[in-house]
Amino acid sequence: MATATLDKRAEAAIKTAQTKNLIGGKWVNALSGRTFATYNPATEDVIAHVAEGDRDDIDMAVAAARKAFESKSWRKMDARDRGRLIYKLADLIERDIEQLAALETLDNGKPISESLNGDIPLVIDCLRYYAGWADKLQGSVVPIRGNNLCYIKREPVGVAGQIIPWNFPMLMVAWKWAPALAAGCTIVLKPAEQTPLTALKMGELAMEAGFPDGVINIVNGLGETAGDALVKHRGVDKIAFTGEGRTAEIIMANAAPSLKRLTFELGGKSPNIVFDDADMDAAIDGAMLGLYLNQGQCCCAGSRLFVQEKAYDEFVSRLADKAKARRLGDPFDSATEQGPQVDQAQFDKIMSYIDSGRNQGAKCVAGGERFGDKGYFIKPTIFADVEDTMAVATDEIFGPVLSVLKFKDIDEVIRRANATEYGLAAAVWTRDISKAHRVADEVRAGTVWVNCYDVFDAAAPFGGFKRSGIGRELGAKGLDSYLEEKTVTISLG
Ligand code: NAI
Ligand code: MG
Repeated sequence: MATATLDKRAEAAIKTAQTKNLIGGKWVNALSGRTFATYNPATEDVIAHVAEGDRDDIDMAVAAARKAFESKSWRKMDARDRGRLIYKLADLIERDIEQLAALETLDNGKPISESLNGDIPLVIDCLRYYAGWADKLQGSVVPIRGNNLCYIKREPVGVAGQIIPWNFPMLMVAWKWAPALAAGCTIVLKPAEQTPLTALKMGELAMEAGFPDGVINIVNGLGETAGDALVKHRGVDKIAFTGEGRTAEIIMANAAPSLKRLTFELGGKSPNIVFDDADMDAAIDGAMLGLYLNQGQCCCAGSRLFVQEKAYDEFVSRLADKAKARRLGDPFDSATEQGPQVDQAQFDKIMSYIDSGRNQGAKCVAGGERFGDKGYFIKPTIFADVEDTMAVATDEIFGPVLSVLKFKDIDEVIRRANATEYGLAAAVWTRDISKAHRVADEVRAGTVWVNCYDVFDAAAPFGGFKRSGIGRELGAKGLDSYLEEKTVTISLG
């Protein structure tokens, strides 16, 4: 359980936390003077009050980003030097990794071992991957008719508005900043109101690295105010958003009058399919990781676990044992495997899905209740005998609730796996290479893992089919949405 006295690392992180907005290279209060609180989800205590930006602050930040975009110091910067700035930011994050990990764990609740060994190494890797792209954004020559030279060059799209969620606060900053900066865009970031602190620390490090003023701006605030203003702003060329599908619908409508470029990385209800012939130990570990990583707060969580009928009973019982043995508690304890959910709203949403699972007749074989009496902890929960139409099988719960479904054969499981409005990820566990390929081929999802789960790499594109998103992040593909193509045709007389 969360300790009564704060961990020393957490105390130090609070003392040095940045709480203002970053606009045009300066740390400023909100113009209204308002602030909002950010909480420690393990104790429910306030950590800090953060500047609450709104339309006017967004106006200032967009103006600063536009000025920086048009300034020679950024526009004409040698692409290789742009790359070096991104490398420098990665180095500074590596230097301060302990402090950043403490701040991430404090604000989000994720176990310190994950902040330190999972999230932040991925942040550093993502920045370094894209740093290497900055001077490699070459175009092409097109053989058109006539006596003409036609070439295509790639140019930054302009001012990028970036709106991110709270589940991987720092990693989402890296996924957004790294390709945008490599492409030569300037940025206005709105972090999630639940977890603003590490983005602000990254802003400080970006200033230390030497990014010109106004290239990176950060405005804290709520989605309905600051986020809304960013989406509607005529001075913003593109919005990159990660979060809920319903929010994306609102953003799409609000961005329509200015015809902004949009990329969305949204939710999922990803099928994780275990055939009878799988390596069962590996599949069980994969099912646990696929769902419980990050307290179940992953867009690609393997929340529909399909197990073939012969293996089903034993699989469920072994999973239940693992779930019950999972170590919950103080996220600053390095042995902790699961921390609290991010806030009261998420806690309430998840608990209501647990009620609905029981009410609709699924069998709860592990968890099903809160853990302790302080902090937003929920025991790892497993529902067996889940039917496809139950809410726990159709809806994104975004918490530690696993639904296990039984299937007979490959045709049936492919059909059922695809019977969802989502299409973010899928996994298949089998020793039969043909089966693996067939599932990978027929499942409608942006990422398919075979005999593994949650393998991420900055070089591998990630994104959704269907309601799980538009566009791709990471990899070479992740640069496309920050670039325009310009066709230049020269008459050779
Ligand atoms: P959300 O989509 O409302 O929030 C994500 C970001 O969008 C935040 O920065 C928020 O301030 C901003 N935002 C909210 N409304 C906005 C608007 N009208 N205009 C512009 N920006 C806006 O997600 P929320 O409310 O935090 O979580 C709700 C559910 O969404 C979760 O329970 C989960 O199911 C899902 N979710 C999915 C994520 C994913 O990675 N796919 C991440 C976070 C949440
Ligand atoms: Mg919301």
